[in-house]
Amino acid sequence: MKQYLFIFTQTHLDFRIPEFSSLCQLFGIPDKSGEICKDDVLCTIELEPNHVAQLLSRAISIKSVYEIILQGSDYGDICEQLKISSEKFRVFDSENQSWALRIRPYGLKHDISQTNEMIDELVELLPLNKASVNLSNPSIEFSLIEDFSQNRNQKPVATYFGRFIGEGHRSWISKFSLKSRKYIGNSTMDPELALIQANLVMARPGAIVLDPFCGTGGLILPASHFGATTVGTEINYQIARAEGVSARMGEGKLTANQSVLANFEQYGIADKFLGILIADASRHSLWRYGENGIFDAITTDPPYGVREKGRKVGNKKRKPHWTLPGSAHEQHYPEKQVYGITQVFLDLLNLAAKVLVISGRIAFWYPVVRNE
Ligand SMILES: C[S@@+](CC[C@H](N)C(=O)[O-])C[C@H]1O[C@@H](n2cnc3c(N)ncnc32)[C@H](O)[C@@H]1O
Repeated sequence: MKQYLFIFTQTHLDFRIPEFSSLCQLFGIPDKSGEICKDDVLCTIELEPNHVAQLLSRAISIKSVYEIILQGSDYGDICEQLKISSEKFRVFDSENQSWALRIRPYGLKHDISQTNEMIDELVELLPLNKASVNLSNPSIEFSLIEDFSQNRNQKPVATYFGRFIGEGHRSWISKFSLKSRKYIGNSTMDPELALIQANLVMARPGAIVLDPFCGTGGLILPASHFGATTVGTEINYQIARAEGVSARMGEGKLTANQSVLANFEQYGIADKFLGILIADASRHSLWRYGENGIFDAITTDPPYGVREKGRKVGNKKRKPHWTLPGSAHEQHYPEKQVYGITQVFLDLLNLAAKVLVISGRIAFWYPVVRNE
């Protein structure tokens, strides 16, 4: 095992630990999420190198990871350690290796002349003779990482000298950007959160994932990106079939090229999309479930009645202006009634209890008024 420095992103801090923990479970590696502090950007964790690679292959909340070579109180301490650490650098010092050096202060900015002075001094101290410098494409990227995140009074919490291992997959957020997505609706889920949610439910090849309130498919897209086969139900015909006016200002009517399937095609994962059923998520008999469940995960964003109304199939009270006699209207078009928020979430949990496999997962959004 080696000691690694994890640098987390500054967005959606609440999801850092759950995402890390889910990925540990997904890859069957020891869950070290207990060592992460929700409010710290930098965190040191001891792990096997291949486990770090596995985490990086899926993580959205991890920005980057470094293998720690030296750890000290401040820059001066690291310089002193470098003078007596030639043994630790022997593995990097061969003719077929090249290196570059970066200075990365977190929570403080050095001016350019100070950075250059530090680089000059560190280059002098680095015990490397055979490996050559290559600034554009080095085989090893060393970094001096100073953690000023807690104390902005010029004094770092800790300073590390490390080797860059890799980055998380922030690039997927742009890949799934709503700006370039073919079909979006009023409440299409933000791609960063949708990707994190797909990690929380451990979407993976071989898994079948359901979104009972599927909308434009914003939550099942990343699940399929991770290899899961996905299916959704949506009660609103126009949303499910991408008909009517586009949610994009000024775009006018939706065209035949815009649909939930077109979104899957856009990202090259149409083979992972089972389809979208126009159906009422409160009708659980839609699914034939045995004792063992049918879905490995549910990922969803139910209607809260703010941007998207909650509706379910049911009878309205007869109104005086209705012209059809008796109960004839009940057979005419399926009627819809208001679907109250408490019932939405009760139904969702009951659905999960019935259709999820043992140890299957559900991740859903729930509106909270923080003061209450
Ligand atoms: C918050 S939106 C989900 C948006 C979706 N995550 C996306 O990325 O497009 C909730 C969706 O649930 C649908 N809905 C409301 N009541 C429903 C019901 N009883 N059964 C199925 N879908 C329902 C709404 O029409 C709406 O599209």
